[in-house]
Amino acid sequence: MAPSLHGKTALVTGASKGLGRAMALALAQAGAAVALVSRDEARLNEVAQQIRDGGGRAEVMPADVTGEAQVARVGEDLATRMGDRLDILINNAGVNLRKPVTDFTLAEWNHVLDTNLTGAFLLCREFVPRMKGRGYGRIINMTSMMAHISLPGRTAYSASKSALLGFTRALALELAGDRITVNGISPGVCDIEINAPLMQNPELRASFLARTPVGRWGMPSEIAAAAVYLCSEEAGFITGTDLVIDGGWTAQ
Ligand SMILES: NC(=O)c1ccc[n+]([C@@H]2O[C@H](COP(=O)([O-])OP(=O)(O)OC[C@H]3O[C@@H](n4cnc5c(N)ncnc54)[C@H](OP(=O)(O)O)[C@@H]3O)[C@@H](O)[C@H]2O)c1
Repeated sequence: MAPSLHGKTALVTGASKGLGRAMALALAQAGAAVALVSRDEARLNEVAQQIRDGGGRAEVMPADVTGEAQVARVGEDLATRMGDRLDILINNAGVNLRKPVTDFTLAEWNHVLDTNLTGAFLLCREFVPRMKGRGYGRIINMTSMMAHISLPGRTAYSASKSALLGFTRALALELAGDRITVNGISPGVCDIEINAPLMQNPELRASFLARTPVGRWGMPSEIAAAAVYLCSEEAGFITGTDLVIDGGWTAQ
């Protein structure tokens, strides 16, 4: 039986496209009311409409996750429009800049760290108080297989995702007594728009697929199904860990 999230309120960052969109749709399909956060209001509205067309509830809350004041405004919005509690927080907003370390400006380095790591901190600081005292809470931080292994050109990305995994473990310990679980999901290469240049380049495609034992890309629906499970009542004993969904890449 598919896990039910009826009666739960969820917030997904980076919900405008890619994996965040897939997770928002899946959480809504499982019954959760979903707050959609990213900078692109038009795209968020399209996702919200899709959820409403399927009979679900979605609210659009445009914000940049790196902005302290903007995250606080999302907190106020959520309280006004969805109630002053949150059951599920998915810190999914992320960016990747691929280049040699010597080519990074400080601003570029900070942009990756601010988005992938500090954004999750700001969201957790804002919403953990609304999860406490209720005997249920689920936080998922979207890490990456690049938190576990790496490739040339991924210094900022790997550093941010490894740090996010450390943050995940420490926060899981802080919140375990409140029955709030905190876990990572570490995808391998997934079949989404942002990876099109990689998937369509014959050499890169061959080299990435050769390193993926199952011999294909991950599907957003596979990541979304894992997120729904980790957010369910049934996953209450899973905390402080990271679910690697990479077609076997990191097993080698
Ligand atoms: N796809 C993969 O193969 C893969 C593999 C491993 C890990 N991941 C991780 O999974 C997450 C989602 O990745 P994706 O592949 O779905 O990427 P994507 O399609 O590029 O989506 C990224 C999302 O993050 C949002 N975002 C970026 N910066 C933001 C900011 N400052 N404030 C608010 N929202 C922001 C974007 O929204 P707006 O542009 O609308 O603001 C967008 O919704 C990321 O954390 C990524 O590192 C992905």
